[in-house]
Formats: sequence, structure tokens, C-alpha cells
Amino acid sequence: MIPDSTSRRGKQAADSADRVLIFDTTLRDGEQSPGASMNLDEKIQVAEILEAMGVDVIEAGFPIASNGDFEAVSEIARRVKDSVVCGLSRAGAKDIERAGEALRHAERGRIHTFISTSPVHMKHKLQMEPEQVLDAIVASVTLARNLVDNVEWSAEDATRTDRDFLCRCVEAAIKAGATTINIPDTVGYTVPTEYADIFTMLRTRVPNADKAIFSTHCHNDLGLAVANSLAGVGAGARQVECTINGLGERAGNAALEEIVMALRTRADVMPYDTGINSQMIARASKVVSSVTSFPVQYNKAIVGQNAFAHESGIHQDGMLKNTETYEIMTPESVGISKSSLVLGKLSGRHAFKDKLQSLGYELGDNQLQDAFKRFKDLADKKKHVFDEDIVALVDDEVAAG
Ligand code: KIV
Ligand code: ZN
Repeated sequence: MIPDSTSRRGKQAADSADRVLIFDTTLRDGEQSPGASMNLDEKIQVAEILEAMGVDVIEAGFPIASNGDFEAVSEIARRVKDSVVCGLSRAGAKDIERAGEALRHAERGRIHTFISTSPVHMKHKLQMEPEQVLDAIVASVTLARNLVDNVEWSAEDATRTDRDFLCRCVEAAIKAGATTINIPDTVGYTVPTEYADIFTMLRTRVPNADKAIFSTHCHNDLGLAVANSLAGVGAGARQVECTINGLGERAGNAALEEIVMALRTRADVMPYDTGINSQMIARASKVVSSVTSFPVQYNKAIVGQNAFAHESGIHQDGMLKNTETYEIMTPESVGISKSSLVLGKLSGRHAFKDKLQSLGYELGDNQLQDAFKRFKDLADKKKHVFDEDIVALVDDEVAAG
């Protein structure tokens, strides 16, 4: 039995109805993304950042999957003190025992056990009858609870599961001792209103539903992972499973940075707190991108290279007058030093003059007019106008006249 497996952060969260736990699965579901595998040192590096930024639960791997995964979960369990460290297992005894073994040295360990509950998965993948699945839920959660106090149970493919059957499964899992109930949208199929209804239904119909924390786990096949997760929170889920940069199988998982910043930026309509230090988001994004060699798309919300960049003249002019005209959060709040006004063919005179000042130039009106015209001609030909291009252009202008 692993003692004291309840998170310090989780305890606080349980006391506050408005606190949403952040469960990061970059090292497990994120790593399942083809080509995103990480070695032990890289996993430790990611886990240390997740702990430092205030993630409540770090899913460190799937111990039965390989010796490497076992080793990674054990090592992270040894090192991480402030976050719960979680290991995934299927419903079989060997999986669960291996996860328990990997978490042996965890100050706060959680076994996360799952089984499919949808007709298509039960019939074709598990080849099990619904009653057999129910028996497996009871046996797996009971065994996990003999090893740790903190057990999460997931209904794989929950959103394509018959609702009455889902209620029976969740009831059985809570009765057997699961402390967190996760409702995965495994194939990214649900939509926000439907996902919210599932949580409302479970919390209303399942006996003792208030004994467990309900959790979202959304995949992004329809680009709805974050919207669905937030809908789940609105309907009472108090844990969100997510990954840095939205890394994950196929189209990925709900992106941690988007969940955290959406809750922070729109606290007026979604009054829930996470314990995340958002100023560490940019760093975490860079580390995950670098260790997985997965580039972050330029226009990715919050962490993309263009997330705080402005090129059009109208926007640049607005930004120079007041940044709130075109930014709903500050770059500093996510750990980016400042917004950038990128000079290009759409840029206006205001941004050009501002750039010249930052490069140390003060031109008279006529010189500025000529330099601006030459800059526009250049920008029409060149995708990127660098500071060096501007310096060369202005030096020519100054020399000419
Ligand atoms: O997407 C999913 O269903 C999962 C489970 C293993 C929780 O990742
Ligand atoms: Zn998943």
C-alpha cells in the first residue's frame, strides 16, 4: 500500500468547488503520437517543468508497455514531490500490479485503470459482453485500491457508450473505490453540448457521484477538444486531462495552455481556477517541442510563433496606441517577453517609424516619407523584412540626402 497518495494540490482542490485540477498526459497520451517518443532524460526534463508550473497530476507513462516506460514512471515517481504521479494500466491484474510497482516510491501515486465501454469496442476490441466488462471494472478498481489510495477509472470511448450502461459502469467503479472518474472522448467524436449533458447526467443519476472527481479527456479529431473540455467543466468536471502543445494521437489532445488561458482570460464567464503558473507555458512548450522534435504550428493559440505577432498596418497602429486593441492576454502572462510587430507589405507608417526609433533612427518628415516608400517596395518583393534590411535601406536614404 502506498501511503499518502492524495495530492496536496488535490486536497486543496477538493475543498474548493471552483478549482479545476490539471492532469497532464504529455508523457503518456502525448507520447503515443507517432514519432513523439522521448528518452528517460527527456521525460524527466518534461516532468520537472510540469511539476514546477503547478500541474496537479502528471501521467508519466504506461508501465506495462515497456521497460523504458516502467523506468520512466519509477524515476519520475521518485523525483516529483508536489504533483501526483500517475501510471496507466488496462484492467488486467498484471498491468495494475506493474503500475503499482512503478509507483512504489511515489510520495503521491495514482493508478489510472481503464476499459472500453462502447458497443463497438466491447464487441470488436475486447470481445467481451457488457456484464463481463462490469465485472472487470470492479475487479480492476478493487485491485488498484489495494495498492494505492488514489485510483482513477476511465471508460474508454465513453462518448459512444450507451448512457444507461455508462451510469452502471461509473456506479460500479465508484463503489469499488475509484476516486476519479474519467469520461474520455477517445475518438474526438463528441460536441460541447453533448459532452456537458453526459457529465450532468452522470452526476445526477449515479449514486454517490459526489464521492469522486469527474474528469474530462478530449481528443481533437474535430478540433473540439478544448471546447469540449471546457463544456465538461461547466457541467461539473473538476479535472481536465490535457497535453502541452496539444500533443497526442492523431489530431492530438486538448492543449493545456489553451485550457489554462481560456479559464484565466474568461474568468468572467468560467469562474474556475487552475494552479498553473501560466508564465511557464512558453518554456514548457519549447521544451516539449524540442524533445519530441514536433514543431509548434505558427498560428497555434497561445504558444505559436504568431500568437502575439501583428503585421497588418491597422492592427499595428492599434497595438502602438493600446495593446488591448488586438490582444486579449499579455504575452508576459504566458512567458513571452513582448508582442512583435512584424514589418511586411501590410505594415503602416506608424509601425515603420516605431521600428526606426527602436533601431536608433530619427528621420525628418521627407526622409521618413522616402524611406517608407522604399520599404514598401522592398516588402512587396520579400516575405520577411529583417532589421538588417531596414538598416541598409535607411543608411542609403541618409547617405543620399
Ligand atoms: O483516449 C483515451 O480513451 C485514453 C484512455 C486510456 C484514458 O487515453
Ligand atoms: Zn486519450
